Amino acid sequence: MRTSIVDLQLMQERGEKIAMLTCYDSSFARVLEQAGVDALLIGDSLGMVVQGHDSPLPVSIADIAYHTRCVARGAPKAFLLADMPFATAQISPEDTFRNAAELIRAGAQMVKIEGGSSMAPTISFLVTRGIPVCAHIGLTPQSVHQLGGFKVQGRNVAVAQQILTDAQALERSGASMILIEAVPRSLADQICAQVRVPTIGIGASPHCSGQVLVIYDMLGLGAYIPPRFVRPFIQETGSIAEAVELYVREVKAGQFPGEEHCYGV
Ligand code: KIV
Ligand code: NA
Repeated sequence: MRTSIVDLQLMQERGEKIAMLTCYDSSFARVLEQAGVDALLIGDSLGMVVQGHDSPLPVSIADIAYHTRCVARGAPKAFLLADMPFATAQISPEDTFRNAAELIRAGAQMVKIEGGSSMAPTISFLVTRGIPVCAHIGLTPQSVHQLGGFKVQGRNVAVAQQILTDAQALERSGASMILIEAVPRSLADQICAQVRVPTIGIGASPHCSGQVLVIYDMLGLGAYIPPRFVRPFIQETGSIAEAVELYVREVKAGQFPGEEHCYGV
């Protein structure tokens, strides 16, 4: 049986960390699942690391659906979470449902939507019609033009308060997971203390229920200077499988992320 959201909730209840990585194809899916990764994210980061764009903005629903099918065939057990790419969750709840359904048909068990409280009605529309949603807060790369770059969010008190309020509103709207990207560790800790659903951190805090990284970043393949939260696990090991196994062990042990991978205020 494939890992379900209920399995992930049980892991959170017993204090077992959720190890998540991005994945875009069947070969990586097989290696990651065998190395013990609990959940695979078919992220719109594929626009950068697979397609070679300088942002995730050009990625379409068809792209994510295609890669979700590839991943699903390689990993029969892992939980599968797929990104709603740029401009596919903003027009209306109905339009968003239609787009999300494409990803569910491709094999995703949950879709991830970037944004704050303004996305709450859309999330509630999906959740009450059977599509589980992960909300993505903090640094939301699809808003790169508004944010002025891929920068840590919530260092300013007003923005931090807004992100915390957003997390609560998103949980109330029915989101069953919250991904927190690139915020000060103290803010991530506050969010984790205030919401009940599993939290997944990337540049957040070791106190999140789980962690995620872009697989190519932790394998040292990124064309860009890696963000602070990336640990190049491949450099400490001899193979992709060993790098991923080490990542899983370090996440489960609460050793990754370390202080050096987190942001201060
Ligand atoms: O697209 C992606 O890979 C992501 C993670 C970086 C969280 O959304
Ligand atoms: Na993404």
